[in-house]
Amino acid sequence: QKHLLGIEPLHPEEIKTILDVAETYVDLNRQAHKHSDALKGLTQINMFFENSTRTQASFELAGKRLGADVMNMAMQASSIKKGETLIDTALTLNAMHPDLLVVRHPHSGAVDLLAQKVNCAVLNAGDGKHEHPTQALLDALTIRRAKGRLHRLNIAICGDVTHSRVARSNLILLGKMENRVRLVGPPTLVPSQFKEFGCEIYDNMEEGLKDVDVVMMLRLQKERMDGGFIPSEREYFHRYGLDAAKLAHAKPDAIVMHPGPMNRGVEIDGTIADDINRSVIQEQVEMGVAVRMAAMDLLARNLKADREAANTGV
Ligand code: CP
Repeated sequence: QKHLLGIEPLHPEEIKTILDVAETYVDLNRQAHKHSDALKGLTQINMFFENSTRTQASFELAGKRLGADVMNMAMQASSIKKGETLIDTALTLNAMHPDLLVVRHPHSGAVDLLAQKVNCAVLNAGDGKHEHPTQALLDALTIRRAKGRLHRLNIAICGDVTHSRVARSNLILLGKMENRVRLVGPPTLVPSQFKEFGCEIYDNMEEGLKDVDVVMMLRLQKERMDGGFIPSEREYFHRYGLDAAKLAHAKPDAIVMHPGPMNRGVEIDGTIADDINRSVIQEQVEMGVAVRMAAMDLLARNLKADREAANTGV
């Protein structure tokens, strides 16, 4: 692959390769000296048009640990504010010869569009409601490490699926790896068209969580609700928030995941989020750095091979 724009174009073998390479970076990141030369001499530019804590920090750390020259564009202080378009901004940065562009944008499809205009590798760090591929990959690595496999698991994705690029990328990835995925939440946030992904839909947490191996919670993404119906947080927690009573319906060794940022007391009880026997939320953050290192390493290998082929006329 030239870019990482989504999970959709990836073959299961490619997903496995990314996770296997990421495993080597988990080991590296746990050492005192966390450095490799995989991206030495390459330039990585991070362009975040939407807020981020985990994704931006981990892409920056990933690039630095692999020896890249990393630049974080402060988009709020850029000429976008003077009316420059996304494409003109991308072309401007492209003229500075970056090798890797990491882009988060509020509009679905914006990162794909940008990738068509530049001649470097582009990584989607989340575009609107469309995809968040590195989140799904880090979730997959977390599940594989916790459960010892990434196939034939029963996985419940719960909450605001409609507005979630995390849910979409996970649905695609977990389906490709032959897992059984259930979506759990109110019909306003889990519409029946999601059945096209081959999953079951529940609007009752107790039934939806019955005997699952993995419980993945999502926050209410109010920033994408466009003035539509927003449930009361108190009522939402009562019916759909993960607490000990609801979690008791899952398998006794089921793990609890959340991509973050969390809203404690809305979609998840704080004691469940902090329960180190069930919650793998901090492991997800750790896997995020390793997966982003792996994704950039593999794209850089393809970039170098393409450039060598172009130079030798092959
Ligand atoms: N999970 C995730 O994308 O978190 P951030 O918005 O903090 O990057």
